[in-house]
Amino acid sequence: MPYQNIAITGASSGLGRALALNLARPGIKLHLAGRDATRLGEVAKTARALDAVVTETLLDVTDAAATEAWVKGCGQLDMIIANAGISGGPGGGNLEAATQINAIFNTNVTGAFNTVLPAMALMAAQPMAANGWRGRAVVIGSIAGLIALPTSPAYSASKAALDFWVTATAPNAAKDGVGLTLVRPGFIRTPMTAHNPYKMPGLMDADDAARIILAGLKAGKTHITFPWWFGAVARGAQLLPKKVFARVPRKGAVP
Ligand SMILES: NC(=O)c1ccc[n+]([C@@H]2O[C@H](COP(=O)([O-])OP(=O)(O)OC[C@H]3O[C@@H](n4cnc5c(N)ncnc54)[C@H](OP(=O)(O)O)[C@@H]3O)[C@@H](O)[C@H]2O)c1
Repeated sequence: MPYQNIAITGASSGLGRALALNLARPGIKLHLAGRDATRLGEVAKTARALDAVVTETLLDVTDAAATEAWVKGCGQLDMIIANAGISGGPGGGNLEAATQINAIFNTNVTGAFNTVLPAMALMAAQPMAANGWRGRAVVIGSIAGLIALPTSPAYSASKAALDFWVTATAPNAAKDGVGLTLVRPGFIRTPMTAHNPYKMPGLMDADDAARIILAGLKAGKTHITFPWWFGAVARGAQLLPKKVFARVPRKGAVP
């Protein structure tokens, strides 16, 4: 793995936890951030038992100043992973409520920018590493960002915003020697999906998802989409006449 100093938001649960523990080994320094002290502490302790050097920080990524201070406090960073995210919950919540829409955008979009923008500025000033990059910023999007899902409009739109931003920004960042990667997972078995009241095609364990992501990052990919067939289905479905979408029940209405 060409990354030794790595920062991860949302490391206290699910995918962030799996990424941290799959990275943890001698010679790796992990800067782990999350909001829940108990769960974050458990991840940090487990990572230390795997001989990684670990810092743990309670952080809400919607707090721009605190997130920038955390990023700057990490020092030299080979990679940062903006993983913290929320959905509307298993029942979908109130899909049209401004409070839910704003919370999803504040965490998933603004929170990701709060995380990667200060890191990318710092990385651009770092020396070039042996892999030809000064650093890599990783944004966790979703296959939901490839299709305008009536079951989760704000979540889908938030991930689509990240998708377009990374795709459009990556060529510019590369000119500064900074790699930028968008990860588009399908369904992963985490607390976020634990109570989804419908079938989840291609559902995979967080450890398997973490291994796929880390292999893609090692290869320096700009987009990591998995399962690939689920990404293809989502892209294809997005091209269908939109009246097909009218038949999709509201998430809360799914038995
Ligand atoms: N699970 C899936 O099927 C799936 C699929 C595609 C993409 N994703 C994406 O993967 C990422 C991780 O999700 P997950 O499935 O692992 O969900 P999860 O188990 O619910 O974990 C979410 C993580 O984000 C953190 N978080 C949420 N809001 C935050 C905030 N304002 N500030 C800081 N941390 C915050 C949580 O911290 P605390 O627990 O400490 O509050 C937790 O560590 C998300 O971006 C999600 O959208 C998930």
